[in-house]
Amino acid sequence: MEKTEVLKNIIEARKSIYPKSYSTEEIKDEVLAEIINAANFAPNHKKTKPWRFKVFRGEEKNQLGAQLAELYKQTTRPEVFLEKKFLDIADKAAKSNTVVSISVNFSGLVPEWEEIAATAMAVQNMYLTATAHEIGCYWSSHQVIYHLGEFLGLEDHQKCIGLFYLGKV
Ligand SMILES: Cc1cc2nc3c(=O)[nH]c(=O)nc-3n(C[C@H](O)[C@H](O)[C@H](O)COP(=O)(O)O)c2cc1C
Repeated sequence: MEKTEVLKNIIEARKSIYPKSYSTEEIKDEVLAEIINAANFAPNHKKTKPWRFKVFRGEEKNQLGAQLAELYKQTTRPEVFLEKKFLDIADKAAKSNTVVSISVNFSGLVPEWEEIAATAMAVQNMYLTATAHEIGCYWSSHQVIYHLGEFLGLEDHQKCIGLFYLGKV
């Protein structure tokens, strides 16, 4: 198959696949490494490489799930709090093989939107690589991400802009 056709097929096949559709099959370490590594090839102005990822698997992933649920409880007004949402948040992490936090490092060298744009392109590279490996994934920007900074150990010039859930389909 022509290179251009392979690329077109992967781009067009990419879609968001949610944890409820993931199987319990493992994602191999080398495949996960390939997905994360693809991010490093995204264009970035002044070579700031603004994306910061943390990979959560196994027990660390369970802790992240519990933390997300707790943050939802702490930051949601009681009159809009839903027990189902509270349970669903941790369940998404449980049903995923891996969760990757997506953060941006604002270097001050270029406008902040450029660092966010470069990070989004890095995430697209991960989406496409996951698609090529028949791994489901999606970017979540659930409100709790804005309260994750301390848990992730982010610095003042860094911001979490999402969570990337992955699992074999
Ligand atoms: C920046 C960003 C944030 C997103 N946040 C969420 C989210 O919080 N919840 C969700 O269900 N999907 C989220 N998505 C996935 C979109 O809903 C999804 O990309 C859209 O429905 C198009 O579907 P596709 O990815 O299969 O083409 C997000 C996507 C992007 C790019």
